[in-house]
Order: sequence, then structure tokens, then C-alpha cells
Amino acid sequence: MELLKQKIKAEGRVLNNSLLKVDSFLNQQIDAELMVKIGEEFARRFAGETITKILTIESSGIAVALTTAIVLKVPVVFARKRKTAIESTDLYSTNVYSFTKKETNEVTVAKRFLAETDKILIIDDFLANGEAALGLAKLVAQAGAETVGIGIVIEKSFQPGAEKVAAAGYHLESLVRIKSFTNGQVDFL
Ligand code: G4P
Repeated sequence: MELLKQKIKAEGRVLNNSLLKVDSFLNQQIDAELMVKIGEEFARRFAGETITKILTIESSGIAVALTTAIVLKVPVVFARKRKTAIESTDLYSTNVYSFTKKETNEVTVAKRFLAETDKILIIDDFLANGEAALGLAKLVAQAGAETVGIGIVIEKSFQPGAEKVAAAGYHLESLVRIKSFTNGQVDFL
């Protein structure tokens, strides 16, 4: 997605050889107009799939999941990384380890929001090691539902996530794919 590449070139900050900061438009301040275009692009790329619901994970996946859902006219469910004040026991749950943050989160979604008949599109902002995306796919499997695709805004192709997702047989669409960060520059695939 050319517009997204231009945005990353203009505003992304390479922190080291594996981390890209995009908090001016995706991870803290949100460029609403860009989110709309991202939603349209995901909808176009998954046009061949039957989708009944979008599943993402809090917090940065929510904006792009929402704009995609508006185009596809389906609901969005987001998995939680923290327990809510009102505890529920009726949860699908899996542990997701973050190599970036060096912590494990129990990721949950209330059972009533995923049905056996659902055809789920998983959407997230970054694909690094694939833990979050594959964790969400596990929640879908626990429900007996089907993951029909995984849509990622920024894939860091030099990390193992994309290969793991492809090896698991999922239809993966990444809007931009990053080959490497060299000398503070982003090299796209
Ligand atoms: P993985 O899910 O693909 O295995 O990735 P990993 O555990 O390494 O990433 C954990 C968190 O760090 C995720 O956000 C992910 O989106 C984010 N992340 C990974 N690589 C980058 C990067 O290069 N730049 C930025 N900005 N974020 C990255 P999170 O903890 O779920 O945070 P949030 O969604 O609440 O913002």
C-alpha cells in the first residue's frame, strides 16, 4: 500500500534494528483518514472471503479493525489482554508471549462473541513473531469457528511471524512488508 509506505517513510522512526515507532499515526495518535483507507484496502484484499466478524486485540488493532468492519458491514470483537472489572468465567483464553515486551499476557474473549458458525478475519497492526495473530487464531479454533484470513498493517518480514502464519495455512495479507532497518532507514520488500 503505497500511501502507507509514504507515511512510514515520512513519520516512522527506526529505534534499533528491529523496532519501528509509528505512534504519530497508528499506536498513539491515530490518523483517522489513513485508518479509513487501510480499512478499504483490507476489505478489497479479502473480497473473495466470506467474513462474518473481525477479531483483533487491544489496543492498536482496534482502529484498523473498526474501519475494515465498517466497509465489510460486520461486527468487531477485540480480545483483551487485561481482565475486566466484571470477571467472566465464560472466556476463551490463550497465553501470548511478546518477544518485544518480554512478557506473557493471558488473552481472552467472551465465549458469547464467537460462534461455531463464524468466519473470522483477524486484523492487527504489527506482525513480528506471530504470537498475537496465532493466539487469536487459537481463540477462534476454541470456538469451533473458522479463521478465513489474517490482515496485518505492518509486517516485519525479517522476523518469523509471517512464515509461521503461512506455514499454519492462513491467508495472510500485509499492507506493507519490511525487509530490514538499515542506518535508520526502512527497507520495504
Ligand atoms: P507478535 O505478536 O507478532 O509476536 O509480536 P510481539 O509479541 O513481538 O509484539 C508485541 C507488541 O509489540 C504488540 O503490540 C505489537 O504490535 C508491538 N510491536 C511489535 N513490533 C513492533 C514494532 O516494530 N513497532 C511497534 N510500534 N510495535 C511493535 P501490543 O503490545 O499489543 O501493544 P498495543 O497493541 O497495545 O499498542
